[in-house]
Amino acid sequence: MQCVTYKMYREMKEAKFVAFSTQKGGAGKTTLTVLMASYLHYVKGLNVAVVDCDFPQFSASDMRNRDMENIKGNKMLANQCSELYKRIGKRSYPIIESRPETAIETAGEMMKQQDIDIIFFDLPGTMNNKGTMRTIAHMDYVFCPITADRVVMQSSLTFAKVINDKLVTTGKTNIKGMYFVWNMVDAREKTRLYEVYDRIISELGLSALETEIPDSKRFRREGDTEDKRPLFRSTMFPPDRSLIKGSCIKELADEMLGIVKL
Ligand SMILES: Nc1ncnc2c1ncn2[C@@H]1O[C@H](COP(=O)(O)OP(=O)(O)OP(=O)(O)O)[C@@H](O)[C@H]1O
Ligand SMILES: [Mg+2]
Repeated sequence: MQCVTYKMYREMKEAKFVAFSTQKGGAGKTTLTVLMASYLHYVKGLNVAVVDCDFPQFSASDMRNRDMENIKGNKMLANQCSELYKRIGKRSYPIIESRPETAIETAGEMMKQQDIDIIFFDLPGTMNNKGTMRTIAHMDYVFCPITADRVVMQSSLTFAKVINDKLVTTGKTNIKGMYFVWNMVDAREKTRLYEVYDRIISELGLSALETEIPDSKRFRREGDTEDKRPLFRSTMFPPDRSLIKGSCIKELADEMLGIVKL
C-alpha cells in the first residue's frame, strides 16, 4: 500500500472522513457511528463506508457479523432486508477492519473500488500511538461524544486540547471542525453541569452541537433471531421510523450534514 500525504488526500479524495472520537471509553463512539452510517446510507441515500480501527475489539465489525447472523436466522428480517435493498437499489455499506495506523490507506483502497460520499472511522480510545494521531489528523471532521459526568468531561476536554494543540493549531491536519456531542442526556436531570461545561467548551474556543442525544434503552438493544420488534441500532437496516421519533437521530444527521456539507 502506498503511503499518502495530507496534500495528496486534499487533492484527490472525494469522500468526507468523519470520526466520532474521544479517549473516554463507553461515551457512545461505536453506537453513534453505526446509527449515523445506517441513517445516511439507507435513509438519506448517501454512499457510506465504515473503517473499524478499534483494534482489537472491532465492535462495529462484530455488530455487522451479529446482524448478518440474525438475518440468516430470522425469515421476517431476511425478507425486509431484500425488500429494502431492492427499493434503495444498493446493498449494505462495507465495514472494514483495519489497524488504526493504516486506516487511511484502507480507506484509500475502498475509494478506488467504489463511489463513497462519507467514511466513518471508529477509532480506538488511546491516542498514545503516533499512527492513531496521524489517522485522526486525516479526518475532515471530528465529533467527540460526551456525557454529563465529570470524569468523562475532564478526559474529553484533555482529548480535544491535545487534538487542538498538536494538530489544528500547527496546521498538520485536514480537520476542518471539531464538535462535542452531548450523548445519553437525561432530560429530567438536566443539571447545571451542562451549562458549566458548555461555558468551558466555548471558552476553549470549541463548540458543541445543538442536537443532544437522549439516554434511551433503544440505543442499547439489538435484534435477535426471535425478535419481532422494530430495530433501532443495526448495521443492515436504518433505525425504524417509530423509534427515530424522540431519538434525535434525524436532527443529528441533519446538523452533521450541514457541517460536513453533503
Ligand atoms: N444515547 C444512548 N442512550 C443509552 N445508551 C447508550 C446511548 N449511547 C450509547 N449507549 C450505550 O452505551 C454503551 C457504550 O456505547 P458504545 O459502545 O457506543 O461506546 P464506545 O465509546 O464505542 O465505547 P468503547 O470505548 O468501548 O469503544 C453501549 O452499551 C451503548 O449501547
Ligand atoms: Mg466502541
